[in-house]
Amino acid sequence: MTRMIIDTDTASDDAVALVLALTDADVDVLAITVVAGNVPLEMGVQNAIYTRDLCRSTAPVHAGADRPLLREQVLAHDVHGADGMGDIGLPLTGGEPAPDHAVDVLIELARRYPGEITLVTLGPLTNIALALRKAPDIAGLFDRVVMMAGTGDGTGNVTPAAEFNVYVDPEAADVVFRSGMPLEMVGWDVSRNDATLTAADGEALAALGPLGEFCNGIQRQLLEFCRTVTHLDGFDLPDPVTMAVALDPSVATRVVHVPVAVETTGSQTAGMTVCDHLGVTDRPANVKVVLAADRDRFLSMLHRACAR
Ligand code: RIB
Ligand code: CA
Repeated sequence: MTRMIIDTDTASDDAVALVLALTDADVDVLAITVVAGNVPLEMGVQNAIYTRDLCRSTAPVHAGADRPLLREQVLAHDVHGADGMGDIGLPLTGGEPAPDHAVDVLIELARRYPGEITLVTLGPLTNIALALRKAPDIAGLFDRVVMMAGTGDGTGNVTPAAEFNVYVDPEAADVVFRSGMPLEMVGWDVSRNDATLTAADGEALAALGPLGEFCNGIQRQLLEFCRTVTHLDGFDLPDPVTMAVALDPSVATRVVHVPVAVETTGSQTAGMTVCDHLGVTDRPANVKVVLAADRDRFLSMLHRACAR
């Protein structure tokens, strides 16, 4: 049984990642911690509660940081819709989060289960950075930290250099990348190259039942964004492929252990994950960077989850 904490800025691709974990009988999701990112914090909390309930899970949902450490909030309604879930009319209100703050829950659970927890981060790293600042000892208490963050090839999706989760809060990402945690990074390049579903792939998921209908239906706005902005044939699923790597490391077919630093000051490059693939710096390798994933294995995991 894998003990897991999922930190999320719950929008349409995060929700599919939650479905993958919450429907896996071999995973005990100890907590879902929410951070502002794709959508404002409260919307992310409601979207997480709705998704959790749809999966008939009892995992507690805890609200966390409602803004980045220093910068103004950047949202992604253009990518995921006004409600973050494709604007398909889902009843995304009235959910009751668990009482404790996400940062305190991260610390308490890490200390309760030393060396046992896989932490999966799907949004800006604000909650994780705050937890590390409040309790530096937790850096050594996780078994794995699997992040949807940055890019392994330098191609950003918000600026030419920066991926959204790191772009929103580069200072938080810098704290995490310097922390010594057992970091695994699944960048947006993996999503673009190995986790893009065509509309037909999405329809095939929808045909599997209510969870498939949900996972496909909420991508409506993302499909439009990919058609007009990222020019992908379908929609890409960065958070779900990250969750797939967390659930089954063999999904990652190419991984390099290299030094990765986060740019926090560049006028053109703030939020860039600078991967030293050639070892030209004297920095120690601090991140296992996933550069490729097994698309077929990923798709079969999606089908298994959506058929439940
Ligand atoms: O850059 C991709 C990340 O930002 C994913 O976490 C997705 O949810 C988007 O918000
Ligand atoms: Ca996300």
